[in-house]
Amino acid sequence: MKIYAHRGASGFYPENTMLAFHQALEAKSDGIELDVQLSKDGHVVIIHDEGLERTTDATGRVYDYTLQELQRVNAAAKWQGGNHFHPIPTFDEYCSWVRTTDLITNIEIKSSVIYYPGLEKKTLDLIKAHKIEDRVIISSFNHLSLIETKRLAPDLPCGVLVPESGLVNAGYAAKHFGFEYFHPAYANLDGASVAECHRHSIAVNVWTVNTMEALEKCHAWGCDGIFTNYPKVARAYVDCL
Ligand code: G3P
Ligand code: CA
Repeated sequence: MKIYAHRGASGFYPENTMLAFHQALEAKSDGIELDVQLSKDGHVVIIHDEGLERTTDATGRVYDYTLQELQRVNAAAKWQGGNHFHPIPTFDEYCSWVRTTDLITNIEIKSSVIYYPGLEKKTLDLIKAHKIEDRVIISSFNHLSLIETKRLAPDLPCGVLVPESGLVNAGYAAKHFGFEYFHPAYANLDGASVAECHRHSIAVNVWTVNTMEALEKCHAWGCDGIFTNYPKVARAYVDCL
């Protein structure tokens, strides 16, 4: 069962920052999950919310700011662990670092609240420029973004993200559309859904697994991977199996 650090090692470090990504590597994660959006001037940046208020010292939408303006924003402003400055990373900067590691990256295209024209292509161009095609999974709650990804890069694996309501015959659906992974929420997931995916050769990565009970259940169901805010704990669990 692979361990993906959700927004980096976000349980103890400010989410979606280079610090949280470096700590995910320290924690011996197999991979990192992150979220991408576009700045006003079309740069791919790593941040979860469409609005800046929850995690930063700025207000308004990500797309209201140019990259130069976003780089003055503190992505750790609301983090309780200290008052240091950690910028919003660009995806280019992230790729420059991750290509020096063995980490897999799950790139979540954030396009279900705001559809950013060209986000898929810009993300794929960076993946290709940094030659990390063999260590990425593209996921999205907006399955139109996955269809666009497959149109542009048929060989890149895609993960069908669904909300907590789940999708009972996800294996059939993912296979039917040519996707490789199902990414369900832990809530409402069960062993039968995992087995249905495996019958269709669809691998299952579960979000967000932050308790021992959830870790144990995912392992018992034969899940292929989990997204967790606490990769060090998950690594210790998996290594003891
Ligand atoms: O990719 C899994 C998970 O990150 C999806 O939910 O809201 O944390 O992006 P969210
Ligand atoms: Ca995400």
